Amino acid sequence: MPRSRDARPRLAILGSGRGSNAVSLMTAFRRGELPAELALVVCNVAGAPLIDRACEHGYPVMCLPHAGLSREAHEAKLSALLTAHRIEHLLLAGYMRLLSPAFLRCFPGHILNIHPSLLPAFPGLAAVAAQWQAGVRTTGATVHFVDEGVDTGPILLSQSIPVRGDEGAAGLAERIRLEVELELYPRAVRLFLARLAQGLPLPAVPSAADPSVPQVLPRLGDR
Ligand code: GRF
Repeated sequence: MPRSRDARPRLAILGSGRGSNAVSLMTAFRRGELPAELALVVCNVAGAPLIDRACEHGYPVMCLPHAGLSREAHEAKLSALLTAHRIEHLLLAGYMRLLSPAFLRCFPGHILNIHPSLLPAFPGLAAVAAQWQAGVRTTGATVHFVDEGVDTGPILLSQSIPVRGDEGAAGLAERIRLEVELELYPRAVRLFLARLAQGLPLPAVPSAADPSVPQVLPRLGDR
């Protein structure tokens, strides 16, 4: 059903664990800093702290555990839930599950994720440990559109910090989260919503193997 002209975009957060990025997003929505409706929080792990965090912040939350289900069966339930809540855009915040190409095609260019590295460097799991081991001098976080690859989609926004060198891998992960991610994700969502509002193009989100589509978006106003 087409959206009425003045209705705000409807978003859902998908997460699996601690939920600190989800909290920073919920706080920004609650403060009216994001011109959209956070209509649902979905968690795929029973008992994950994210569920309590969403309740505390007064947002509707559904637990949809994937355990025991095929990817297809789990995504069918997820799709039905998102459709029932008329969700148009997804914000992955520590969602520890790959989404199938079929699912991604339902939200082309409408799924964002945050990752604790300066993509395209260090994609995938254990990204901070890998950066620590590699001795990088600069790190950060990236908000990107989700495509069929692992952390390979077009980049929306990133922010860097210098590595001190004495923090260890766990300390570095905390610094990235606290000093970058919690502020970066709401800022990136604001940018995404501004693009939507201005009718700027969203990425085609091709398969990761398709080099023909630029992987970095033009800046706002560059049309
Ligand atoms: C964050 O560091 C994010 O970059 C990664 O997963 C972590 C989730 O943490 N994708 P939290 O659940 O938001 O606390």
